[in-house]
Amino acid sequence: MRITGTGHASMRIDTGAGSILCDPWVNPAYFASWFPFPDNSQLDWETLGQVDYLYVSHLHRDHFDAAHLSRFVSKDATVLLPEYPTSELQDQLEALGFTRFLKTVSNQVHELDGGLKIMIQALTSPTDGPIGDSSLWVEYDGVRLLNQNDARPTDLMRFAELGHVHAHLLQFSGAIWYPMVYELPQAAKTAFGKQKRDRQFDRTFRYIDDLKASWVFPIAGPPCFLDDELWQFNDIFGDEGNIFPDQSEFIREYGKIGRDNGVVLLPGTVATVGLDDCVVTQPVDDVDAFFAGKPEYLRAYQERQRPMIEAAKKSWRHPEIDVLAGMKARIEPLLEESIYLAKGVGGPVRFDLVGDDDTVESIVVDFPEKQVRPYADEKVRYRFRTERSLVEHLLHVGEVDWVNSLFLSCRFSAARIGQYNEFVYAFFKCLSEERLQYAEGWYDEHEKHTEAEDVTLDDWVVQRRCPHLKADLTRFGIVDGETLTCQLHGWRFDLATGKCLTSVGHQLRARRASTED
Ligand code: FES
Repeated sequence: MRITGTGHASMRIDTGAGSILCDPWVNPAYFASWFPFPDNSQLDWETLGQVDYLYVSHLHRDHFDAAHLSRFVSKDATVLLPEYPTSELQDQLEALGFTRFLKTVSNQVHELDGGLKIMIQALTSPTDGPIGDSSLWVEYDGVRLLNQNDARPTDLMRFAELGHVHAHLLQFSGAIWYPMVYELPQAAKTAFGKQKRDRQFDRTFRYIDDLKASWVFPIAGPPCFLDDELWQFNDIFGDEGNIFPDQSEFIREYGKIGRDNGVVLLPGTVATVGLDDCVVTQPVDDVDAFFAGKPEYLRAYQERQRPMIEAAKKSWRHPEIDVLAGMKARIEPLLEESIYLAKGVGGPVRFDLVGDDDTVESIVVDFPEKQVRPYADEKVRYRFRTERSLVEHLLHVGEVDWVNSLFLSCRFSAARIGQYNEFVYAFFKCLSEERLQYAEGWYDEHEKHTEAEDVTLDDWVVQRRCPHLKADLTRFGIVDGETLTCQLHGWRFDLATGKCLTSVGHQLRARRASTED
């Protein structure tokens, strides 16, 4: 089985029974803030795009690049479609001209022509990607690969039971706006960033230990930031609080725990994976030297992309749009229907929109009152500050997912009172009837579902499944004194009270083991 690196989370898999192109991403995403690192635009995409199968793991814009798919990927390719609750991914691919779809069943092996086997595991909670994220398992001639991508299943058991995996490709770096955009003292930001960076590595190592694959490929990040306004997010300043470590950093950290089976997959790397070996050809003479020259590399990349960034910025402006009226029209009908998300947010959320002349319009999305209105000098739960032109653009294009556009762009700052509230972001990724209904239904089910099983962790008896997304706490739970941390997403719980310390709600059932009868 041959794996050709095509940048970020993208790769082409060639077997004797056909080829699969995964998540090709070349054009910048999220308001021109994320660019693939390293630059993959010079690859021979005309050839790479002539494939038998296309796999798009989910609709995040660093995985689903509509312009690139439209131009370079053969429309004769059969799309391997994850089993998602909504048809959005298929609809968007059909709009680009794809007509052949293999609708997979999650966790079920599908046998394709010539002895090629595939399985896609679809994750479908409202917090998984843009309503869905997935992983692809492939087997040909006894060699198995798992492209876990940036999906975070509670465990990898389903893949492990299909036999030893030879190549495990998974995310290891950050892909979020926390903590950089928060209005915090720099020392706190660095401390939170360091925690997050460490946790990302820990989680990755845990998944690797689950599967024990022969070879591990760190993929799906980090992006790079080429706009001057975002340049500080690149991990080139020796900042231990930076959440975007690159592949060379991963290999270094992985080495510290005594592992040497990591393979760096650059755009153009070719790895031929067999039952007992992995032969790798790199597109550069010296991979270490390449990463050592990252600051200069990024500066040159930035100069190449500067005209494009400037042009993109000009296109966002739509001064003819009345933003308050537009937000009202889009958001109020959804607030009206929302029970769980509105209750979960539980307070007003304020948007400060900064115009070209530095004037600020403050708009409140009032979840309890189910209204969008001007800010009335009140206490708010969350405050976001961003350029008005970005929201004008979101309204102009009818964007249904502000996480997959505004928030991932990192082109905002934020402040909040109290804990992180996942419902805020879940709501702003569900600005369509279909998505909102799905999310409401999911939380409804989730709420009614009682997790009965308890387990003992150190001195505590706790429910086995994490109240967040049901990770098995016998594997992901770490007890430190009276605090339990679930390593899957790093959520923390106070064991004495069961209170979630990371987000609103999500009570944990816990008691001291010694108080058992
Ligand atoms: S499942 Fe997300 S923190 Fe436990």
